[in-house]
Amino acid sequence: MAEIIVLRNLNKVYGEIVKTEVLKKISYGFEQGKFTAIIGPSGSGKSTLLNIIGLLERPTSGQLIIDGQDFSEGEVNDYSEYRNKNIGFIFQFHYLLPEFTVIENVLLPVWIKSGRPDEKILKKAMELMAAINLAHLKNKYPNEISGGEQQRTAIARALINSPKIVLADEPTGNLDRETGFAVLEVMTKMIQELGTTLIMVTHDREIALRAERIVELVDGQICRSFMVKEQGKDKVKQLLEERSCVFSEG
Ligand SMILES: Nc1ncnc2c1ncn2[C@@H]1O[C@H](COP(=O)(O)OP(=O)(O)OP(=O)(O)O)[C@@H](O)[C@H]1O
Ligand SMILES: [Mg+2]
Repeated sequence: MAEIIVLRNLNKVYGEIVKTEVLKKISYGFEQGKFTAIIGPSGSGKSTLLNIIGLLERPTSGQLIIDGQDFSEGEVNDYSEYRNKNIGFIFQFHYLLPEFTVIENVLLPVWIKSGRPDEKILKKAMELMAAINLAHLKNKYPNEISGGEQQRTAIARALINSPKIVLADEPTGNLDRETGFAVLEVMTKMIQELGTTLIMVTHDREIALRAERIVELVDGQICRSFMVKEQGKDKVKQLLEERSCVFSEG
């Protein structure tokens, strides 16, 4: 299986005088078309790693390769075009624009990428929204719909340009459990259909167990990773519950 995102000895240090090493020698290959969950305690570097992969932040050192292209050296601004075209983001708080309707929010990345949406993309937006049971809300404003509906709008927005990669940071974190699982269901289904590579940060082990790969970060390092199907879901669940996380190096 091809690796669409490759990290080699990735480091991130915050601060000039007081230096905090947030990511330490991260090496990992994310496989194309797979759903990988990143888990780990608060402050372990999950969001930082996701932001670096999403070209929103720069690594301090190390290599980042996406789809064969080396992104290790440039600045965040150099990559905005690539990012808009190839990467969809879903965050915990979905940052819908309140003065725009649901469909206008969904179409936002289209405006950014190529200006006024044409008939074809409008049709696609409607199909996407129908698939996640959002079509009837298209002319509502974010404050007129529920949290789960807002989050589904954010998912449609992340998928509208058919990005190769979708990055999600606790996308179900502010939803109740039932709605969270419903949103996850919709998301994984769409992503499977489109062959999208999904990387999702989550605190929730039950959610992580829906992924094909799990990477556990502790203190800025990958302390272990799992192949859920190959190892067996029950086995992985048990290993996660044992909580012992032994570093393979360093
Ligand atoms: N801009 C920044 N400047 C300095 N330190 C930062 C900055 N952003 C994050 N950190 C620190 O880096 C560490 C990792 O942060 P990060 O947000 O990646 O953790 P996380 O695993 O996503 O945590 P959580 O589960 O709470 O969201 C934390 O100790 C945090 O305080
Ligand atoms: Mg975080």
